[in-house]
This record gives sequence, structure tokens and C-alpha cells, in this order.
Amino acid sequence: MVDTPYSVLKKTPTRYRTVHFQQIKEAGGKFAMLTCYDAMTAAIFDDAGIETLLIGDSLGNVVQGQNSTLGVTMDDMITFSKAVVAGTDRALVMADLPFGSYEESVEQAVASGIRLVKETGISAVKMEGGVEYVPHIQALTAAGVPVVAHTGFTPQSEHVLGGYRVQGRQEDATAHMVQEALTLQDAGAVMLLMEMVPADVATAVDEALTIPTIGIGAGHGTTGQVLVWQDAFGMNQGRVPSFVKQYADVGGALSDAAKRYREDVLKADFPDAGHSF
Ligand code: KIV
Repeated sequence: MVDTPYSVLKKTPTRYRTVHFQQIKEAGGKFAMLTCYDAMTAAIFDDAGIETLLIGDSLGNVVQGQNSTLGVTMDDMITFSKAVVAGTDRALVMADLPFGSYEESVEQAVASGIRLVKETGISAVKMEGGVEYVPHIQALTAAGVPVVAHTGFTPQSEHVLGGYRVQGRQEDATAHMVQEALTLQDAGAVMLLMEMVPADVATAVDEALTIPTIGIGAGHGTTGQVLVWQDAFGMNQGRVPSFVKQYADVGGALSDAAKRYREDVLKADFPDAGHSF
């Protein structure tokens, strides 16, 4: 586990809970989140000190090879969430409520949230949408399921929003997003994630809220940042959104290893005596 001098918490928690993110916000600090979908990667990110991991429904894209998140099911979320929880000691693990698992009614949202927590061991759910989900957030919170609200670009609504595009560019965007965020906070949301929102709008939202914010393509004014790890660490074969910084070429390293392995096999250099019984 890497402890950095940048952390504002006096002591790294044994296990991050939502209260620690509140403390980070109150102390003017920052935290890092990555998406994650399997136990081995979770253990690596956990050891690296990443404060929170998200089993995003982006697994539809990066794990299942679909062109949207819309086909991801509760069963999918449960399978991958269990794996991430199993690989994690310290990070707070949260998971998306997938498309179709909460929109129909408050009862459906509560049943889905409880199922995700109960069957996987995650500590919070993330839910896309705005003020129309206030009753859902209130009921989930009352049932013991912390909710991270997700506004700005919400991929589950891509067909309503007209595709992947920056949100919050209209004239009254800041006032609108601040008001929406305050309403979600009042409903009980423990954090607010904003996706593809102009930096000044996201900063204004963070400043107006007492709860922590998390940004993706939302500038540096949010309390935390999240990236889809395959985008940031070079697994996406160059197809990278403009707001993503490249921190590694894991895809390149994998490709190189696979080529060297194949070459060894074809030349009968592997397995050699040292790798045989
Ligand atoms: O599904 C996901 O990975 C997400 C992130 C893009 C925030 O919601």
C-alpha cells in the first residue's frame, strides 16, 4: 500500500468508508477512483493506494465488448462486483445500478440496491440521473444503501441525450447543475459524480456542495477523479477520450509478451528444462 504525503487523512483507514471521503472533502483534499472488474486488478489498485474502486457498467464496453452500457444486467454487476470486493482490502468499493434495475419504481431501486450490497459486499451504489430519482435515493438511503448520484453525461441515457457529448454547456448550466446537485445532496446522496461537464460548472457544483464530488471529463475542481482504467493505462488500442491522460501502455506490454511467448513456442524454446517436470 502506497502512502503519499498528499493525503489529508492523518491515518490511512484500514477500510475506506463514505465518512473518510467526507473528511477528505472537509479538509480540502483529493482522492482517486478507478473502475475495476476483476480481483487481480483490484488487488493491484488497492495496493497502489487508490481510495475507491467502481465496478462501472462500463464493463459492458470494456469487458463484454458491447458498444454501450445498456445491456449490462444485475447478474453481470453481481459477478464482477464480487470479484472486485474479493481482491480489495482497503478501498471503498461501489457498483453501478445498471440500466433497467431502478427506473421503474422506488421499490425496484431498493430491491436492486439491497441485492447488490447483500450479494457482493460493496459499500455503495452509483445511480445515474437527476432530481427525478430523489425518492429512490431517499428510500435506498433509508434502507441502508449509500447512493452516489451520477449527473452530467449519463451513458444509460445516451439515446435521449443524442450520443456521447459534453453536458452543461447551455447558458444557465451552472445554476441548473448546482440546483440539481443540492437537491440530490438533500435527498441523501453521499457523493456526486459528474461526467463530461465543463470544468467551471463542475467546480461551482463542488463548491456549492458539502458532500464530495467525483469528476470524469469535468476538470480539476472536483474532490475526486475517476477514469476507466483500460482507457488510462493503454488497453484501448489508441481509442481514448480526449479528457483521459495516458499513464501506461499495459496493452503494448501485453501484446509484446504475447508475441514473445508465441515465438518461443513456435521455436520450441518454451518450455525448456527449467520450466518442465
Ligand atoms: O460505468 C462507468 O465506468 C462509469 C464511469 C465512467 C464513471 O460510470
